[in-house]
Amino acid sequence: AEQVATNVHWHDHSVTSEERKRLKGHKGCVLWFTGLSGAGKSTIANTVDHKLHALGKHTYLLDGDNIRHGLNKNLGFSAEDRAENIRRIGEVAKLFADCGVITLTAFISPYRVDRDNVRALLPEGEFVEIYVKASLETCEDRDPKGLYKKARAGEIKGFTGIDDPYEEPENAELILDSDGKGIDELADEVVAHLNQKGFLS
Ligand code: PPS
Repeated sequence: AEQVATNVHWHDHSVTSEERKRLKGHKGCVLWFTGLSGAGKSTIANTVDHKLHALGKHTYLLDGDNIRHGLNKNLGFSAEDRAENIRRIGEVAKLFADCGVITLTAFISPYRVDRDNVRALLPEGEFVEIYVKASLETCEDRDPKGLYKKARAGEIKGFTGIDDPYEEPENAELILDSDGKGIDELADEVVAHLNQKGFLS
């Protein structure tokens, strides 16, 4: 009778990041958008996501919709909770990037140390900090969700930029002038930066 192999041995190494890169045509990385509420993080990240996807790149966007309503729905806005929010997002982003995905995140991430901790989690060069820079005045004028108004009225306590800190990046790979330029132009700046630094090939 035919013998059925009972001791089949798989190679014990996992798929390497080089092999994933070859399959996808680019390596994974994390595009970390940070900035005040209303600065345009989500909108710009969404536009970059679409542009990269249209170029045939493998991308995924982590933002409030899939994180603060899901994985992190038990977290609020104290400094501790914000730190935990960013820590978890950093760990998830690291997994996605390890899969070879260009991972975009759009969170205020107001504390420098929390952002630097995420940077330290990732392989050298795979964390791209993108400061979406807009003055508080601009963000307050936009006030897309009416939250600044509520914060000024004292109905929301600890609102970033009003009575809670935002620590500007000191070593951002890219600063986007969201006071002066439109979404599409800024998204193009991100794509151009990635192209120039070899992230897309
Ligand atoms: S953080 O600081 O990175 O943990 O914040 P994040 O997860 O990005 O969530 C920010 C959005 O939550 C709303 N919101 C607040 N923001 C700042 N401070 C307080 N106290 C607060 N309470 C609710 C607000 O709509 C933020 O949305 P964005 O998209 O940034 O405008």
